[in-house]
Amino acid sequence: MSFVPQLNALPAGIAALADYEDPARALTDPATWAYLNAGAGDEITARANRAAWDRLGLLPRVLQPLAGASTAVELLGRKLPCPVLLAPVAYQQLAHPDGELASAHAAAAQGAGFVLSTQSSVALEAVAQAVRLESGRGPLWFQLYPQPDAGVTRDLVRRAELAGYEAIVLTVDAPVQGARDAQRRTGFRLPPAVRAANLQPYPAAPLDGSAGLLERVALAPTWSDVEALVDATRLPVILKGLLHPEDAREAVRVGAAAVIVSNHGGRNLDTTPATARMLPRVAQAVAGDIPVLVDGGIRRGTDVLKALALGARAVLVGRPLVWALAAAGALGVAHALRLLRDELESAMALSGCVNLQRVCGGLLLAD
Ligand code: GLV
Repeated sequence: MSFVPQLNALPAGIAALADYEDPARALTDPATWAYLNAGAGDEITARANRAAWDRLGLLPRVLQPLAGASTAVELLGRKLPCPVLLAPVAYQQLAHPDGELASAHAAAAQGAGFVLSTQSSVALEAVAQAVRLESGRGPLWFQLYPQPDAGVTRDLVRRAELAGYEAIVLTVDAPVQGARDAQRRTGFRLPPAVRAANLQPYPAAPLDGSAGLLERVALAPTWSDVEALVDATRLPVILKGLLHPEDAREAVRVGAAAVIVSNHGGRNLDTTPATARMLPRVAQAVAGDIPVLVDGGIRRGTDVLKALALGARAVLVGRPLVWALAAAGALGVAHALRLLRDELESAMALSGCVNLQRVCGGLLLAD
């Protein structure tokens, strides 16, 4: 599919990221909405992620000199204008015909990072090509789901390297899919027009569809696979989807370049703790050896500031990307990113924080 930028109008009355949810839902059929938006099981983790940010208070310092304040951070040898990346979200053409091309363009225009899913509905080469020359764009990373055939996994990594991706983000919290009850209730099926474009060159995976749970878990990656991946690619390997501080230490040991504290937006194992609860413990365990990122329920600039005060270097947003994309294509996603950055700047000024490389932990007050 070729990219035709759609300058879709923004829906009226959008003042914050969450305002995109209702217009997006209204434009999306219920089964697709369930796939894109629902958490696993009883959605306890999905709700907990959000609530945990709300429970943290910001305790501002007043009369601080604010000259020279900046939202920039350093991450893996690169300066990011703003510590925000779009999370890897599969099959974005379900939300909007421009799919990942729209969201990657929007991220580039706003200086945000972009993480392309293995299950992207647009091929990784096309996305990289589309944003390659955008000046001021944030980092472009490729999210890897190891495939049943190790040769296919290797080829995906090779293609990502060739296309100019700057890191491999290995998802480690999804050896199998969680209890996607909302999808089953609504009978979601991927429409034939939307495909895992990155996987089209390969023969269909023999385990697709019919495999039992135990056949699948036998193929799930382990720590030694991470070590092998670190050795096999010249790109930094980032582990996404850990919560346990000891797993974070192990990530450092095997040579991961960064970790992302994540519970898959509550889409896999329900009742795991909120990411905001585990982030400080992971940051403490990692002790500055590698950067720690976080996702899960980030909706506000104040959430971003809290995440950085808890030890994150940057954050990822997933559902708001889907909502803004569904409601207004590339324009919506760019607008949502701009809102988040404006809110972050305002939160920094109002709390007396000038430098996101060193956010004062004393800024936070837990209940
Ligand atoms: C894929 O990673 C999903 O959460 O559906």
